[in-house]
Amino acid sequence: MRDSKVIAPDLLAWYDRHARTLPWRVPPGGPPADPYRVWLSEVMLQQTTVAAVKAYFLRFTALWPTVQDLAAAEDARVMAEWAGLGYYARARNLLACARAVAARGGFPDTREGLAALPGIGPYTSAAIASIAFGRTETVVDGNVERVVARLFAVDTPLPRARPQLTALAGQLTPTERPGDYAQAMMDLGATICTPRSPACVICPVQTECEARRQGIAAELPRKLAKAPKPEREGVAWVARQGQALLLEHRPAKGLLGGTLAFPSARWDGRDLPPPGPAQWREIGQVRHVFTHFSLTLRVMSGQLTGNPERGELVPLRQIDREALPGLMRKVWDMAQGEIAA
Ligand code: ADE
Repeated sequence: MRDSKVIAPDLLAWYDRHARTLPWRVPPGGPPADPYRVWLSEVMLQQTTVAAVKAYFLRFTALWPTVQDLAAAEDARVMAEWAGLGYYARARNLLACARAVAARGGFPDTREGLAALPGIGPYTSAAIASIAFGRTETVVDGNVERVVARLFAVDTPLPRARPQLTALAGQLTPTERPGDYAQAMMDLGATICTPRSPACVICPVQTECEARRQGIAAELPRKLAKAPKPEREGVAWVARQGQALLLEHRPAKGLLGGTLAFPSARWDGRDLPPPGPAQWREIGQVRHVFTHFSLTLRVMSGQLTGNPERGELVPLRQIDREALPGLMRKVWDMAQGEIAA
């Protein structure tokens, strides 16, 4: 296996013609992108697809066009706008980071400076440094790992191969247009060097690809078999009082931290009693898959016969489905059938 390759010129020439147009991007060869928009998009894109992120990105940047605007926003408002994107620790870190950046008067322009901010890890710091500040930093996400594993026919399974893939990715990164290069790698991984059935015949760097030469591109990267997801169970209460429902903000730390929710118990390790006195009746179950476990939540419904012990009664017409996280939207949808009945 040769271990020195040059792909940047061919990849950048391809990017110049085929770059995806995305709301947070500047066109290939354009001036550096606004670090606020790069940062916001990269945080949103962690664990979430480009298709899902677009609308959220447009809404956030319309509401809060600058990092100072976001820093001045109310926590609950930002959590409500984030609802549905998942991984709510990201939203809490987003605000902490916006406030740190606003306090220091702008984003730092080096990878090290960026990495010292809340919620910015090795991936995000490299992405912002290269895309917004033109620094030669190597951005390594799942797409890039796949492209590199194939280019060099790395047979070691993930996650063990990670340090080797990061080192090889570093060798490929050019000093010219590192930001465009980073995004070109992402686009190559998303549109051509796809996990299944890669489109090698139209790949701009096919002549450099060792896996293609060996006919094993679709088999790489190898992955260690994953342990099956554990199953968890819990209960959620839909507590009614007249035309109002009981909702609560979840504790800031922990699962769905800081989000608006129906009172619940057990699935997150908190063994709580029902939130108030009622004749509780099970109206169904919802299932939801989190990163580390799958959940079945029994949904209990009841009319409160006394004061609730926690949470807040919210008039039905004020409840905004879009402000609930995905799991709680499922509970809400189930409760709606019950309320209408
Ligand atoms: N995924 C993560 N970051 C991205 C970006 N800047 N463009 C496209 N897809 C991405």
